[in-house]
Amino acid sequence: RCAEARTVVLSNTPVNGEYRLLTLDAPVEVLACQPGQFFQLLCPEPEGEHPFLRRPMSIYGYDAEAGQLQFLYKVAGAGTRGLATLRPGDGLNVLGPLGQGFTMADDWQDLLLLARGVGLATLAPLARMAQQKGRRLTAICSARRPELAMSVDLFQGYGAEVIVVHDEDGSSAPDALRALIEARITAGRVDAFYTCGSSRLLRLLQDLGARHGIPGEIAMEQQMACGLGMCQACVRPFQEADGIVHRRVCREGPVFPIAEAIA
Ligand code: FES
Repeated sequence: RCAEARTVVLSNTPVNGEYRLLTLDAPVEVLACQPGQFFQLLCPEPEGEHPFLRRPMSIYGYDAEAGQLQFLYKVAGAGTRGLATLRPGDGLNVLGPLGQGFTMADDWQDLLLLARGVGLATLAPLARMAQQKGRRLTAICSARRPELAMSVDLFQGYGAEVIVVHDEDGSSAPDALRALIEARITAGRVDAFYTCGSSRLLRLLQDLGARHGIPGEIAMEQQMACGLGMCQACVRPFQEADGIVHRRVCREGPVFPIAEAIA
């Protein structure tokens, strides 16, 4: 169940030069979240900007006991520029949690998570879910430079093994990644994959998954309007056994089986 709520900013601080971490005091009715779900944020409008729609943002952290909700974001457009102006004590209207989150089948004991940049923020809540369910998690964090790898401390704090891979050219070093993941598969240490966003990483995991019979899930990044399944702005094609089907990322997703996503 989603709800609209007024939250209060507790902090909104820079993280490693490229991202900001927004922590909100939020009412309990919006904190029954699942990893991979998202909120629609009514971002403040910076001066001179036109009014705009709510902006979808995946959940970075949630804690019903503490009454807190967190988002990690990069200032990349008018909406996030508006978010960056928020100060402690300011109000922010949020709508959520929305969409379908990640699942963790009983026989997925060894999990491998692979993402880059802000995709790691979307996967961050999975680390807590894996620890709560007693699963082993390896997080492969890809970045242009090691210091830009997101969420490393958070993954480690929840008991994950973290491997940072970096490349200066933005290529995600696919050959090195493939070798690294295949070695773990061969050692019997991967039951399922999780990823987010990047088409390049999706194709790599689809290929490895098909070769080795490993399932997994991806949180798709997609521009949205309503976020509620009504406007069809987020429809994308997916590959099912019988052919192509079209689904709304905001409603049927944003989490889908890796094998069905079309990069
Ligand atoms: Fe409107 Fe998905 S954003 S249907």
